Amino acid sequence: MKATIVQVLQQFCPIPLDENMLESPVHTHLGDWALPCFPFAKELRKSPIVIAEDIAKAIDHPLIRQAAAVNGYVNIFLDRTTIASSLLQTILEQSSSYGASNEGNEETITIDLSSPNIAKPFSMGHLRSTVIGNSIALLLEKIGFKIVKINYIGDWGTQFGKLLTAYRKWGNEEEVKIAPIETLLRLYIRFHEEAEQNDSLNDEGRAAFKALEDGDSEALALWKWFKTESLKEFQRIYDLLGVTFDSYNGEAYYNDKMGPIVDELAEKGLLIESDGALIVQLDEGMPPCLIKKSDGATLYATRDLTAALDRKATYDFVKSLYVVGNEQSLHFTQFKKVLHKMGHEWSECIQHMPFGLILKDGKKMSTRKGKIVLLEEVLNDAIALAQSTIEAKNPDLLNKTEVAEAIGVGAIIFSDLKQHRKHDIEFDLASMLQTEGETGPYVQYANARAHSVLRKAGETNAFMIEGVNDFEWAIVRMLGLFPHTVKRATDELDPSIVAKYAVDLAQAFNSFYGNVQVLSDSAHRFYRIALVTCVTIVLKESLRLLGMQAPEEM
Ligand code: ARG
Repeated sequence: MKATIVQVLQQFCPIPLDENMLESPVHTHLGDWALPCFPFAKELRKSPIVIAEDIAKAIDHPLIRQAAAVNGYVNIFLDRTTIASSLLQTILEQSSSYGASNEGNEETITIDLSSPNIAKPFSMGHLRSTVIGNSIALLLEKIGFKIVKINYIGDWGTQFGKLLTAYRKWGNEEEVKIAPIETLLRLYIRFHEEAEQNDSLNDEGRAAFKALEDGDSEALALWKWFKTESLKEFQRIYDLLGVTFDSYNGEAYYNDKMGPIVDELAEKGLLIESDGALIVQLDEGMPPCLIKKSDGATLYATRDLTAALDRKATYDFVKSLYVVGNEQSLHFTQFKKVLHKMGHEWSECIQHMPFGLILKDGKKMSTRKGKIVLLEEVLNDAIALAQSTIEAKNPDLLNKTEVAEAIGVGAIIFSDLKQHRKHDIEFDLASMLQTEGETGPYVQYANARAHSVLRKAGETNAFMIEGVNDFEWAIVRMLGLFPHTVKRATDELDPSIVAKYAVDLAQAFNSFYGNVQVLSDSAHRFYRIALVTCVTIVLKESLRLLGMQAPEEM
């Protein structure tokens, strides 16, 4: 809507306008939009007051009811009826594709997300990566990009030598089958405890990893089994979150593909020997990038370099995003630099998207050192809480389990996405699940309430608008802002813009619902039904873009 108004105003304005010039007045009696004329004074050699008067006088358009010049501003009052009726028509016609565009031109963007480590618990960090990455993927898809979601599983590295050793010494098959990650993690912790007393264990671990790298079939079979069992556990979390991936090529996939990269680095004269290890020297003040350890083992960075080249060759991306915690910033700066030094200009398209921590009572919520928070437990707690609220408030609801899942999981997703990803977030299940305030359930509840109106209304019909009151206008304004919201969220790769928008739209709907007789006033009935229908369309689509469900009854 803003864009349309700018286009309209342009016809009456001697200077090129853009959307940012239009301000939204704090008080509605000052108009729906205001155009400050101060920036034009120099070029037009007139006072802003005179410019505003000239523009206000010239304006003549069906979308604009009135234009008033006040102290160098042109205050614009829109024709609510015309705007509301064309906007509602548009939304009803376009339905869930309202707000979509083809800005992305079918070009490909890869998103590296989730990427947990096998035999380790799925951490809070992995949850954030999954939720943020998934929403960014949905947003970019909405504006016409082709998205490839890659779950770069951490399934390789020296820790697997340790794990193999520990399993052979103290493990048993049954236990792993029953609780794979818990058991494997315990073995891993025990390895570290015992290795402190007995250093020869470390040698055994290294030898076991070497055997794995060299393709020893017994080691490989065990490793594969650990991986399958771990992935089964992760899959339960992905099912709950409703997230899918296009590729699971993780670190191990690149194990036999690193040779050519190391060769290329050497050919280009970038590889330097340092204490027996191979490194690439980077800029002043930045630690070098380690490519090969002195024992010949490759590293995390070596695999990421290889993966980046492979992704470029496979997908020819225009952008490659990595949704990974703050603490890996140096790693991403380094490996991007190495690609740049290799002459790959597309390294510029690689973007690390860091995010903050999840805190519990102000401290990092961690999965290490025995403080194991199995994420699945957290999700199930949220679902159980939602379920007990339903039992108390709406015991006759059909498919209670599904709805509880949508609310519980949605609450966690929303509390993660409602702030900019770089902020740390405080994890507090009870407050996430509130139906008041800026929460997922608040938005979902507004949508369910709108649906209950529609259920009561029964039939819909063609509508004529005879006046738009302030409550309705607040909704129309919000609905009209949706495409602009999607645009901002995709420009800034920031789902919190959509989350905040959803709260605002839900709020506008709730005050309308509390103050306007939707169905009993026959003159406005069909128009109001259309308005409520549009609210459900846009709320559902906003929630979908965050990766959440929109139950029609709660
Ligand atoms: N597995 C890593 C971890 O848990 C995250 C991997 C992120 N992606 C990447 N391409 N490095 O810390």
